[in-house]
Amino acid sequence: MAQDDIFKKIIAHSKEYGFIFQSSEIYDGLGAVYDYAQNGVELKNNIKKYWWDSMVKLNENIVGIDSAIFMHPEIWKASGHVGAFNDPLIDNKDSKKRYRADVLIEDYIGKLEEKIEKEVKKGIKKFGESFDEEQFRATNPNVLRNKTKIDEVQKRFVSALEANDLDEIRNIIIDLKINCPMSGTCNWTEVRQFNLMFDTKLGSVADDANTIYLRPETAQGIFVNYLNVQKTGRMKLPFGIAQIGKAFRNEIVARQFIFRMREFEQMEMQFFVRPGEEMEWYEKWMETRLKWHKALGFDQENYRFHKHDKLAHYANAASDIEFKFPFGFKEVEGIHSRTDFDLSQHQEHSGKKLQYFDPETNKNYVPYVVETSIGLDRMFLLTLSAAYKEEKLDNGEIRVVLRIPPALAPVKLAVLPLTKKDGMPDKAREIMNELKLDFNCQYEEKDSIGRRYRRQDAIGTPYCITVDHQTLEDNTVTLRDRDTMAQERIAIEDLYDILNNKVNIKTLLKEVL
Ligand code: GAP
Repeated sequence: MAQDDIFKKIIAHSKEYGFIFQSSEIYDGLGAVYDYAQNGVELKNNIKKYWWDSMVKLNENIVGIDSAIFMHPEIWKASGHVGAFNDPLIDNKDSKKRYRADVLIEDYIGKLEEKIEKEVKKGIKKFGESFDEEQFRATNPNVLRNKTKIDEVQKRFVSALEANDLDEIRNIIIDLKINCPMSGTCNWTEVRQFNLMFDTKLGSVADDANTIYLRPETAQGIFVNYLNVQKTGRMKLPFGIAQIGKAFRNEIVARQFIFRMREFEQMEMQFFVRPGEEMEWYEKWMETRLKWHKALGFDQENYRFHKHDKLAHYANAASDIEFKFPFGFKEVEGIHSRTDFDLSQHQEHSGKKLQYFDPETNKNYVPYVVETSIGLDRMFLLTLSAAYKEEKLDNGEIRVVLRIPPALAPVKLAVLPLTKKDGMPDKAREIMNELKLDFNCQYEEKDSIGRRYRRQDAIGTPYCITVDHQTLEDNTVTLRDRDTMAQERIAIEDLYDILNNKVNIKTLLKEVL
């Protein structure tokens, strides 16, 4: 099936099974703003817990905070967001559609990369076991041609970005003959910069009111609290501060469902280190974060690092962890070595010292920072994209199943009486009342057992237990596994231990220890 079709199915599935709704749907929606529905919010909370526990619980030197969304407006001048948090936008004069100029060029490069991968796949198919991929990539004329082209475009693009040369960015688009996907023409306007921050007014009297901003990243709430946390927590370098919270960006082009939203959530951790040790920690956090992703057990081939050629104004090194979404490899998380840029800027703008006294060296200095920053909504989309499967069964039927890692699944267990008679519902309720204290359970008695299994598969419930005639005689139930569809007879008294071993978040945390 074409990847586009799969993506459309995932979006439709998200709505049909109560994961995500368009915000303000009955008013025809609000662009790039979404609501999490009954199953979505559970999955989202579980992802948050996996992240939070991996950071704050597993690391003695990382603590969490929850800072306010509104902050002093000077913060955004200090951080560079008022002056430089811009995206270059371009309009097609025929379709009147607006695009991010940088994304048009990045997508063009992405297509060349896809061509290379297709060529490699052809090679694997043709030569089988004897295929030497490294040699193939170094010698195949089609691969080399596309690689040279990528390097040329990238070089030109990076120097245009570094020089903030908007005319050159437009020239690249024209020279590469990048057409508007809607009109198919290359009739482009000039490229303009567009600031992504939302502003509003604080105060009741219009004239006196201050312009303040909805935070475009959670990180600044950490920076401005760094010394408070360090002192009150008696933290010693290296140490980290983690935060999960909403961020807001007035994205010019917000497509691809929850991939690029105007209101979204970030899970960020700023790790404060001695100057000069930042590269070591940057490498370490890259490795740690990739391990966190891979522990979920999705196809390991679908992750890769992308090193930034053009660095943000605050960074001396940066990489993204990319995941292969149905629309290609895209960023899920960024790991940035942010130097002492932010703390030094806040020190200057606030007039308050933000130095750390190092008892080992007896010196005062502004720490350097390595940041890990992951979009919660993107992580949610990653989970759905990786988990969504359409499987052909032996009887020819297709079952749609979300193979969500059990620890993240919204519902852990469905309790199903085989029929509504003979006291089976009462027994099922009794079991559920006990287990719901520990697990998110669902009780269902409507429709055939087969249809109920399918509904649970579709929301990713890892286990179903069925209460039948035998249960009433010997206190056993059948436990059905979502992935294998195998059923086992289990004593009711053993259910807690069996389930706990499989669905507890501990199963994931052990992998990242
Ligand atoms: N503090 C650094 C920072 O904010 P970023 O690369 O701009 O860096 C970090 O954002 C992560 O936040 C991204 O990797 C992505 O997962 C998520 N993110 C950024 N913009 C987003 C948007 N408009 N919608 C959803 N997620 C977004």
